[in-house]
Amino acid sequence: REPVDELINRLLVTVEDFPEPGIHFKDLTPVFADGRALRAVVDALVEPFAGSFDAVAGVEARGFLLAAAAAYASGTGVVTVRKAGKLPRQTYSAEFELEYGTATLELHTDDLPPGSRVLVLDDVLATGGTLSAAAELFGRAGITVAGFGVVLELTELRGRRRLGGHRVRSLIRT
Ligand code: PRP
Ligand code: MG
Repeated sequence: REPVDELINRLLVTVEDFPEPGIHFKDLTPVFADGRALRAVVDALVEPFAGSFDAVAGVEARGFLLAAAAAYASGTGVVTVRKAGKLPRQTYSAEFELEYGTATLELHTDDLPPGSRVLVLDDVLATGGTLSAAAELFGRAGITVAGFGVVLELTELRGRRRLGGHRVRSLIRT
């Protein structure tokens, strides 16, 4: 059986100059589109945290793909960390820096009871701004982050350093 990192590396497509000149964009959509790869990726993200979480969270938008599959496979529920203005009820909100400007992520205050343990999934860890904002949201909700899981970690951006002492599982690194 092909190891999950080889499967991902074989399927992902590097797109030059997207979304702007000089960026070598790693497109994971072919990984998600392949049934065997999707299952291998989800299983590999869940495996190190098995038994240590009560729910899975996905970060809008690409994290949703992984989180629902991981929750289904684990028999837990799934919660959404969403971009500003999408959640209809009371939220916690956390702002973080983008290359140009800022962005805001939100979490319903009552999606999970305080004391829950959540596995947070996203497709890519780059600067870590997104996942550190997610960590802030769960902290404010009294929810423990059991760990973070991503398919791809862009190590030169040192996002992992912004995630405190949390466990981070990445399946491939560039
Ligand atoms: C991308 C990616 C991660 C985030 C990583 O999402 O899907 O969520 O950036 O970057 P960071 O570690 O520097 O925060 P994007 O904001 O482009 O939105 P999308 O998932 O909705 O396409
Ligand atoms: Mg994203």
